[in-house]
Amino acid sequence: MKRTPTIALMGIMLLALVSIAVAAFVAWQQISEMKTSATAESAGFTAAVKIGGPFSLTNHLGEKVSDSTYRDQFMFVYFGYGYCPDVCPTELANMAAALDVLGEKAEAVRPVFITVDPERDSVEFLAEYVTQFHDRFVGLTGTLPEIASVAKSYRVFYRKATEPGSTEYLMDHSSFVYLMGPDGQFLTMFRGATNPESIAKTIGAYIEKRKAGA
Ligand code: NI
Repeated sequence: MKRTPTIALMGIMLLALVSIAVAAFVAWQQISEMKTSATAESAGFTAAVKIGGPFSLTNHLGEKVSDSTYRDQFMFVYFGYGYCPDVCPTELANMAAALDVLGEKAEAVRPVFITVDPERDSVEFLAEYVTQFHDRFVGLTGTLPEIASVAKSYRVFYRKATEPGSTEYLMDHSSFVYLMGPDGQFLTMFRGATNPESIAKTIGAYIEKRKAGA
């Protein structure tokens, strides 16, 4: 009478231990895979879906621009919004730090911030905002349909997150930094919080490759 519940209990405990170990192993494998195959993964992503394309927007100086305005330069593209409390400023500072690591080579790169909140991110607002991060930065805004169109071509998700009873809102948005080539083609993308040295190294390699005529 006494032994049966004990054995059953031990069995349950053993099963629990095994499942914890399996879960930990799977999680560890996923994390290490994520770290090692970030580039391979984005390369696979390129083959599967097209990222980027033609757009028509307004820059932070109030000028009409399009994707072809930035042809012949590498383009760093990030979607976010000026009122973002943490993620966007961190990413923009990260991009700026990568440009600093690149030094003179940064002249080949045009960092572009495209707002997903054009209702608040006016030309004047963007002019003050983007230049705080780096003097090479371009801020782009547009009409709601223009923004929706460019976000769609970059597979960017965004939506207003409104608190009930408040007129203020946040924007939920995906946070990737895209690297586009001088021909406007997608090259690779960086996840949020990729360190600037690693970003600079990847871009530096593309710049060298282009110089070599490859
Ligand atoms: Ni943000």
